Amino acid sequence: MVQFIYDAAATLNGFIADEHHSLEWLFTVEGGDAPTDELYPSHADVLVMGAHTYEWVLAHENMLDDPAKWAEFYGTKTVYVLSSRTLPVPAGAEVRLRNASVAEVLPELRAAAEATASQEIWIMGGGDLAGQFFDASALDRIAVSIAPALLTSGAPFLPRRIDPDQLRLIGARAVGQFARLEYAVRAGS
Ligand SMILES: NC(=O)c1ccc[n+]([C@@H]2O[C@H](COP(=O)([O-])OP(=O)(O)OC[C@H]3O[C@@H](n4cnc5c(N)ncnc54)[C@H](OP(=O)(O)O)[C@@H]3O)[C@@H](O)[C@H]2O)c1
Repeated sequence: MVQFIYDAAATLNGFIADEHHSLEWLFTVEGGDAPTDELYPSHADVLVMGAHTYEWVLAHENMLDDPAKWAEFYGTKTVYVLSSRTLPVPAGAEVRLRNASVAEVLPELRAAAEATASQEIWIMGGGDLAGQFFDASALDRIAVSIAPALLTSGAPFLPRRIDPDQLRLIGARAVGQFARLEYAVRAGS
């Protein structure tokens, strides 16, 4: 069965970006600027992200001018981007832009992941997008790599109320300076 997994790095007080969409707080942590399998163990071949995350990725690595960078990061993975706008796509990238509710795109996402070995979908963020999957009862796991940093404002990790009876801790370990926690989400509590 296809698993929907939200996996992101956050500050100790629950932000995934500062108020200017900067990740400098993350990149200054040892290992924070180089994704490793230990920090991001997902084998998903289907990824989902919101428009601001996608725009950040494109800009940070200058991927529109240098599409090889996209291939370096995402290979042949299929990346769904939710946006009300027609955003540019790096040459050759398998990016599928959708302007729809999460409930509307779920069947397409499931079908795409069913055709892959891992049967996983990595929800990369932002936090409200992960919340939309939770609202649609389609969030199976939450993983967070907590960086030794705090911010005063920014983009929240997951702006929903989710009570303890809906979460079960399934993993906790140190990865360098990060504390990585994984939770299974119980539906319908
Ligand atoms: N620390 C980490 O691991 C991590 C992970 C991911 C992201 N980030 C960062 O966190 C920040 C997240 O930004 P954000 O909170 O604004 O979230 P976001 O999900 O990246 O972007 C939100 C935007 O996505 C579009 N969108 C979302 N759901 C939609 C839907 N159902 N239908 C159509 N469009 C939809 C809308 O933009 P439109 O105007 O296009 O409609 C919305 O304003 C970014 O700076 C990103 O780089 C950090």
